[in-house]
Amino acid sequence: MKRLVVFYSLSGNTKEAAEKIAGGLGADILQIETVKPMPKGFLTQMLVGGGQVMMNHIPELKPIDKDINEYDEIILGSPIWNSKGVPAINAFLQDKAAAQKVTSLFFLSGGGEVEKGLDAITKLLPNLKNTVSLLDKKHKDSKDNESKIAEFVKKVSG
Ligand SMILES: Cc1cc2nc3c(=O)[nH]c(=O)nc-3n(C[C@H](O)[C@H](O)[C@H](O)COP(=O)(O)O)c2cc1C
Repeated sequence: MKRLVVFYSLSGNTKEAAEKIAGGLGADILQIETVKPMPKGFLTQMLVGGGQVMMNHIPELKPIDKDINEYDEIILGSPIWNSKGVPAINAFLQDKAAAQKVTSLFFLSGGGEVEKGLDAITKLLPNLKNTVSLLDKKHKDSKDNESKIAEFVKKVSG
């Protein structure tokens, strides 16, 4: 089974989780990036990112250096923005063949309320089996991420 962990991360939390998950699974890893960078300040990020989610904006992505056809399974990682997955991940999922390969999903959020995001993204992922909700490192319960990641990796490995 050849696996690819695909993720977007603006401030590093999803990236850290993606690296742990890829390490645990022995999977390759791919970071999705938008051509147009997000602003640096948190408040402008909230405004711009929140606006993009509301408008269902599909940003242009930088070219990816992995051939999705080579992989049997994709494990997808997204931060939660305005209660949903990020526009960059929706852009990646425009590739229906890639969306079909996603079996597992991990979310990073500030507060842990991911139901709306899960509902929205589940519609795009016909083969989704495993999900885990992880917390931003600023959250007091983020120490539980380690054990949640270990359990998630076990489930994904089957
Ligand atoms: C534009 C924007 C919107 C966000 N909206 C939410 C939200 O609705 N709910 C939530 O729990 N966290 C929200 N967050 C917090 C992020 O989900 C959280 O900080 C996450 O760990 C970021 O992942 P990253 O470091 O990989 O970018 C938002 C962050 C940004 C930048």
